[in-house]
Amino acid sequence: MRAKILVLNGSTRAKSTNGLFIEAIVRLADKRAEFTVYPSVVDLPHFNPDLDVDPAPPEVARFRQLLREADGLLICTPEYAMGVPGSLKNALDWTVSSADLRLKPIMLVTASLSGAKAQASLLETLTVLEGVITSTTMVLVQFARTKVNAEATITDAQALTDVQRALDAFLAPLG
Ligand SMILES: Cc1cc2nc3c(=O)[nH]c(=O)nc-3n(C[C@H](O)[C@H](O)[C@H](O)COP(=O)(O)O)c2cc1C
Repeated sequence: MRAKILVLNGSTRAKSTNGLFIEAIVRLADKRAEFTVYPSVVDLPHFNPDLDVDPAPPEVARFRQLLREADGLLICTPEYAMGVPGSLKNALDWTVSSADLRLKPIMLVTASLSGAKAQASLLETLTVLEGVITSTTMVLVQFARTKVNAEATITDAQALTDVQRALDAFLAPLG
């Protein structure tokens, strides 16, 4: 059976560069895994410990169920104001008490103008959540908008190599 991968886009824009990278990665995976793109991190309510009780808010319960069913998690995100987009961080905050990222293999693509700070911050968050993430499954794509076209083809040779290498490292143990 193919590995199930849940995909989170840290961008909520309709024509998101990260969305194009996600499309490109799904194509590069060439049916080695089954990808489910989580519709949008904005569907989750603002994290509030008072709401983090049983039963969880319906969308939170659905999100956690998708995470539990997934063999791995792919996150593609821009950086906003030198940090992690709030909507993505909010989604991750909902996984603290449920521990749904524990031992979950994670591939992280930070496709942004700069992006290094968001990547470093996410690495700390994902590590404390006990996700399985190493430098081999992380990619930083700077000036990302210039490196993927509207047909979701990664046009920059180095970015393509980096993404392919990380994808192979991510999927190999899930094979
Ligand atoms: C409010 C805002 C703040 C931004 N701050 C940063 C930043 O700190 N670092 C960075 O690399 N890019 C920053 N950007 C640029 C984004 O990286 C760029 O727009 C990227 O393409 C967004 O990803 P998306 O196309 O998937 O939405 C910012 C963009 C916006 C709208």
